[in-house]
Amino acid sequence: MLFEAHFWDFAWPRPALTEFREHPEFTKLLAGWGRPGDRGVVAEEQQSRIGAAWFRLWTPELHSYGFVNAETPELGIAVALGHRSRGVGRTLLRALIEIAQSDGLPALSLSVSPFNYARALYESEGFCKVGESGTSWTLVLRLGL
Ligand SMILES: CC(C)(COP(=O)(O)OP(=O)(O)OC[C@H]1O[C@@H](n2cnc3c(N)ncnc32)[C@H](O)[C@@H]1OP(=O)(O)O)[C@@H](O)C(=O)NCCC(=O)NCCS
Repeated sequence: MLFEAHFWDFAWPRPALTEFREHPEFTKLLAGWGRPGDRGVVAEEQQSRIGAAWFRLWTPELHSYGFVNAETPELGIAVALGHRSRGVGRTLLRALIEIAQSDGLPALSLSVSPFNYARALYESEGFCKVGESGTSWTLVLRLGL
């Protein structure tokens, strides 16, 4: 799902998953998964995994594109091809927001291209633009605790 989130735009050349697994960006984002603060939800259909949403805390020294501060986890999400546009992504996103609220987190952040329709999903759930990183926007959802 991390691969799908990274290569969301079909106009981009897609490496093989095995090749991308060796890429420094991929290994950085996945390294040590399960550390404190890591949370995720998985969507299943007929015992197949069809989507996932997750968040991780990062530091000013080591982070991804949607980083805002060390207290705000950055969220990622993807739904498998063939299962999109049926409400799975919104269900995953809402489930993860509920987890963040029950964990007492102040906010969630993420990075999204303004041209990705995922932006409309995030904005409809209350995420707001707080900045830009390269060609992507950084969005934040304040959890108001
Ligand atoms: C983005 C993604 C996670 C959304 O999950 P999904 O299951 O397809 O989305 P949903 O069916 O829950 O739809 C949620 C909203 O997304 C938007 N959306 C979904 N499919 C769309 C489509 N084909 N065209 C335009 N907007 C669409 C709509 O705003 C929709 O809300 P609505 O149903 O009220 O109109 C999924 O499409 C995906 O994996 N995309 C590729 C990876 C990616 O871009 N990840 C995010 C990187 S920041």
